Amino acid sequence: MAWTKANVSLALSLVMVFLGASLADLSVGFYSNTCPQAESIVNRVVSGAALSNPNLPAILLRLHFHDCFVEGCDGSILVNNGAISEKNAFGHEGVGGFETVEAAKAELEAVCPGVVSCSDIVALAARDAIRLANGPAYDVPTGRRDGRVSNMSLAKDMPEVSDSIEILKAKFMQKGLEAKELVLLSAAHTIGTTACFFMTKRLYDFLPGGQPDPTISPVFLQELTTRCPRNGDVNTRIPMDRFSGRLFDKQILQNIKDGFAVLQTDAGLYEDVTTRQVVNSYTGFLNPFFGPSFESDFVKAIVKMGKIDVKTGSQGEIRRFCSAFN
Ligand code: HEM
Ligand SMILES: *[C@@H]1O[C@H](CO)[C@@H](O)[C@H](O)[C@H]1NC(C)=O
Repeated sequence: MAWTKANVSLALSLVMVFLGASLADLSVGFYSNTCPQAESIVNRVVSGAALSNPNLPAILLRLHFHDCFVEGCDGSILVNNGAISEKNAFGHEGVGGFETVEAAKAELEAVCPGVVSCSDIVALAARDAIRLANGPAYDVPTGRRDGRVSNMSLAKDMPEVSDSIEILKAKFMQKGLEAKELVLLSAAHTIGTTACFFMTKRLYDFLPGGQPDPTISPVFLQELTTRCPRNGDVNTRIPMDRFSGRLFDKQILQNIKDGFAVLQTDAGLYEDVTTRQVVNSYTGFLNPFFGPSFESDFVKAIVKMGKIDVKTGSQGEIRRFCSAFN
């Protein structure tokens, strides 16, 4: 049979029908009939918990990223299954927010038992967190189901602070995310903090002879070495956006341009032609009038991140407790 245009497009549409049938998609308002209060309960729990921990929005946003990058967005990071638990992986060092997710789950189980997945709670909590930090509001497609695997060895490929820009791009590409999305999602570091632990190499062991990363602006280097002194307490935490660490804005991209990036990987975004162009596209002086909108592009990127390898339909399960398989 000759591959005419007509039957190529017929074949293509058959493939699409197949894909459509086997991969149920997420949808906005997935719980509107089965648990209409789902989103408002998550929002209330997150807002309440943030009152006593102002860094909670950042913690919950990071949790969503770490959940999605291992086994897909399936709540696998939440499970406690002993020493082997995924959450114990080095690549998840410092990740938190588990109690808040579990608290929301408990309220949801009381109202609509066995309906709302832990992975959806994580995605909704991240959305609410961004909004609490004054970031953009957006709809979260839901309908994820929870995974049944948790194994720390599966987290060995998490992006790390010492990764080169090439490795970072490759790790994101592996999850279907482009260089542009790497930049947009890294800009999540506009809120939150890092432990000095992650700064040691950049400040004291970057170049031969123990020299720091030369892309750090000299004034900022002074400040960073004061806050994270050599051989000091590696658990001390510093904001990742020097100017507005509790506000979800695009300041971090300007910082990256100006030598005020805190993490080595964020600084690296300005050392690569492709990612530098992306940073520049949101920070150019004409941007507010003509350039792309950071907020709307970030929203597209995080919604896409939230769809990585999701389980839907009859895959996985709806956990009763987020920290345990059923
Ligand atoms: C590009 C690769 C990335 C690397 C290497 C990276 C690395 C890190 C590191 C080392 C920290 C400090 C952790 C600590 O000391 O507790 C951190 C914090 C954080 N990360 Fe990332 N990250 C990356 C991408 C992302 C993405 C894609 C998001 C979300 C979309 C994100 C959100 C956050 C947030 C909000 C914090 C602050 C957490 C807190 O204050 O406790 N990161 N990241
Ligand atoms: C965890 O993963 C490792 C490496 O793939 C494997 O050898 C081990 O059996 C797994 N453990 C469990 C409990 O599944």
